Amino acid sequence: MTSEKLIWFNGVMVPWSQANVHVMTHALHYGSSIFEGIRAYSTPDSPAIFRLGLHMRRLWDSCKIYRMDIPFSLAELTQACKDVVTVNNYAKCFLRPLVWRGEGPLGLDGNANPIKAMVLAMEWDAYLGPDGLKNGVDVMVSSWSRLAANTIPTMAKAGGNYLSSTLIKSEALRNGYAEGIAMDINGYVAEGSGMNLFIVRDGVIYTPPATASILSGITRDSIITIAKDLKMDVRETNIQREMLYLADEIFFTGTAAEVTPVRSVDKVIVGTGMRGELTEAIQSRFFGLFDGSVEDKHGWLDYVK
Ligand SMILES: Cc1ncc(COP(=O)(O)O)c(C=O)c1O
Repeated sequence: MTSEKLIWFNGVMVPWSQANVHVMTHALHYGSSIFEGIRAYSTPDSPAIFRLGLHMRRLWDSCKIYRMDIPFSLAELTQACKDVVTVNNYAKCFLRPLVWRGEGPLGLDGNANPIKAMVLAMEWDAYLGPDGLKNGVDVMVSSWSRLAANTIPTMAKAGGNYLSSTLIKSEALRNGYAEGIAMDINGYVAEGSGMNLFIVRDGVIYTPPATASILSGITRDSIITIAKDLKMDVRETNIQREMLYLADEIFFTGTAAEVTPVRSVDKVIVGTGMRGELTEAIQSRFFGLFDGSVEDKHGWLDYVK
């Protein structure tokens, strides 16, 4: 029950029901919040947070883009992430650090609004369902394009960016699909509503570059490393829409989606319609990190105890 849980709220642990903000909060009106989504996994030793350092770095980078000075140190917020796992007794959970422009004037610049921060932890199982992880999900190409360069920065993981994601996701659900894949404004494949995308054709793995309006995912980075460790050929390059229909394998990556195969795009079956060989090999390297069957040779696990 979340009602019994504690949230790290501006430096102190408060009960779930007391972590509230005022309606004059700048972020509520203008989307001026920065956040992260992080997973803590249950491992044979203790709960371990996946790539916490890199998530914190992206949080700081996002705030820098918007000139938001976080009123806590990197060490304090890093510790807060660990503390919400232990204080709430989670063996595994999803972490949501959030920094926002708080209560104050309604002026757009937001400089007079104090910067606030919180970290909460909650249960979150397979985002696209446990069946999706094994058998894949059915997706559509979205009628919405992703953000354009030099409009809203996609390198920042900011609350306002996610209006685009809600359009992509809700359109897909309304049409009976699990997810949408959006193109960038040049017509090349970008990403899902909250996940990056990889395509396999003739044994080569392709993924859109950071310049294709994607969020540079931390799972994406991990999967590129894992694929290279497995001696696979991975290329970051622009991908035409039609590659989605010709791919042998497609999979999403993300903190929420982890590594989820795509079974069909616009009702066109991907490959054999079953989870592909490369997808499965990558999944087992990834999930093996958490059950102890794969050595954490890149130091990606941050143990909380
Ligand atoms: C738009 C978008 N793309 C990609 C990702 C995947 O990023 P990560 O692997 O860091 O969770 C996310 C999730 O945070 C996202 O929201």
